[in-house]
This record gives sequence, C-alpha cells and structure tokens, in this order.
Amino acid sequence: MNIFHTSLIFLCSIALLLNCTPTQLSFTPPFTVTGLATKTTFFVQDAVGRQFVLKYHPRGPKRAIHDTLGAYVGKSIGLHINEVEIFSPHHPFNQLFNDINPLEPSQFRVTTLHTRVPGTSVKSIKKINNEICIKRGLCKEKHLESLTKYMQLCDMVAFDIFIENTDRHNRNLFIDVITGEFYAIDMDHGFKSALALVNIARDYDFDTLAVRVYEFVKMLQKQKLSSQEIKVLKRIHHTLQRLVDLYPPAILFDEWMAIAQKGDVVYSPREQKKIKKYLEYNAQEVCRLISLLDTFF
Ligand SMILES: Nc1ncnc2c1ncn2[C@@H]1O[C@H](COP(=O)(O)OP(=O)(O)O)[C@@H](O)[C@H]1O
Ligand SMILES: [Mg+2]
Repeated sequence: MNIFHTSLIFLCSIALLLNCTPTQLSFTPPFTVTGLATKTTFFVQDAVGRQFVLKYHPRGPKRAIHDTLGAYVGKSIGLHINEVEIFSPHHPFNQLFNDINPLEPSQFRVTTLHTRVPGTSVKSIKKINNEICIKRGLCKEKHLESLTKYMQLCDMVAFDIFIENTDRHNRNLFIDVITGEFYAIDMDHGFKSALALVNIARDYDFDTLAVRVYEFVKMLQKQKLSSQEIKVLKRIHHTLQRLVDLYPPAILFDEWMAIAQKGDVVYSPREQKKIKKYLEYNAQEVCRLISLLDTFF
C-alpha cells in the first residue's frame, strides 16, 4: 500500500467520522398508503408522488438498526440499494401512520422508511430466478456460476459478506428489466451474528459469513478456474478491500450507535462491548479472506 493510498484511506475515515449522521430522506407529507407488501410492510407515496416502503419491525428494533446500517454502508459504495431512515417510536413521523400500525401496544414501535427501488423481485422472473443464487455470498459452486453470468452482482456479494447478510434470496434482490440493473433491499439480517451475540453468554458466535466464504474459496483450485471466474474473485476482492478501508470497526461502531440513538434504541454496555468485539472479529475474518483471494491473481 503506497503513501497516497494510506493518506486517502485516512482522509476518508476522518470524513466518515465527522459525518456520523444517519440517513435522512426527503419526503413531503401527507402520505397515501398504496399497498401492502406483508402484514408489517406498506407501500406508501408522499404528497409529491415519491414512492417509499414503510416497515414495522415485529421481531425487534435491533433488526431495524441492522437494516438501516446495512443500507447506509451499501449506498456509500455506490451500490444500487434502497436508502433507509429510522424513526424512534415517539417521533411525530409515526403519528402519520397511527391508523395502520400493525404492532401490539407492547411492541417497540420503531419504524424504517425505505426508498422504493424500481423493478421487480428476481424471484418473480422464472428465467433469471433459475440463474441466480447468491444467498450467503460465495460459498457454493452455483454462487460462482451465477456471478460469472451476472458480474454486476459481485459488488453485492462482497457487500453481503462484509455486512454478514445471510438473507440475499431472490425476493430481496430486485431487477429493473428495462435497464438490466439489480437492486438490493432488506438488510435486516445483516450483521447476523451480532443479533445472537447479545443474547448468549459466550463472547462470540464464530460462524460468520466471511468464515464460510473463506472455507469455500480455499477449496478452489486456481488452475481449474476460468478467466471469468478469476474476474469474479478479483471484483469481490476489490470491493471487500474498499469496504474494509472505509469502515474500520471503530467507525462502523459509531455509525451503528448513531443510528441506534436516532431510533431511541439503547444498547447496554455489555451489548456495546460485544458489538465492538464482533466488528473486530468480522473485520479480521474479511481481511483473512482478502489475503486468500490475493493468492488467485
Ligand atoms: N425498498 C423496497 N422497494 C421495493 N419493494 C420493497 C422494498 N422494501 C421492501 N419491499 C417489498 O416488501 C417485501 C417485504 O420487505 P422486506 O424488507 O423484504 O421485509 P422482510 O424482512 O419481511 O422480508 C419485499 O419482499 C418487497 O416485495
Ligand atoms: Mg425480505
């Protein structure tokens, strides 16, 4: 790494640190509810016709934070992804939707507002659905095969590995058939091990995505890979390196806590400590994967 590269990373890190402001979307109330995606997810449109998705989080507010943080990270590297703003239970924004709130009074009513991505889910288009399988990043032959056909998805896979998102099934992957662009939605399974981590007595849950991908890549034989497969590995390597450079654990932790604060979600000191450890552990595993990928070029 040369001095220019090092200085650039340093400046980017400082910029991120100073700019630890959770996403704020532009919208103009009142909203109209235009449809129901699930029992707790609504399609809404603002007064000037902008399209959004409003999500309640019956499985708990921490998932809302993971969703928001994942979208923030993805957007910052130019991925096609929905943007997400989080609202605390008592934020006046939520009063706009009092009549559709599907949660029980006992549930924590944090909400997230998502920009609506264009296109339709890959799951709903039979031919493309049969060709794409990227759930859990890159840990099977069929993942590699999907990526050689759709190189654009390499960045999304690298992103999912970095944020440890285990849920990129084809309903959480959209395609705009007019432009051929893919879009990511639904990062509430991101930072997966951190959800379990706070509930268990042990310090770590070691089965992170980066570890699984490492195990798969280790089995690949360089001389048997096609040039297109090598290109896939190169692109994943490149994007993982960008993510690691942009988001050292301390910076990601600050972003995480800033989002939690906006949602009025409190992490206990023990939980915070575990999240920090998790982020350090994950960064270390991603770096180990990057070093392994290096051996293929
Ligand atoms: N940003 C978005 N743009 C378009 N549709 C979306 C968006 N977010 C969610 N949806 C629709 O709502 C459904 C449920 O949302 P999702 O975020 O996937 O929640 P869940 O965690 O319940 O799977 C999705 O399968 C999709 O059809
Ligand atoms: Mg989903």
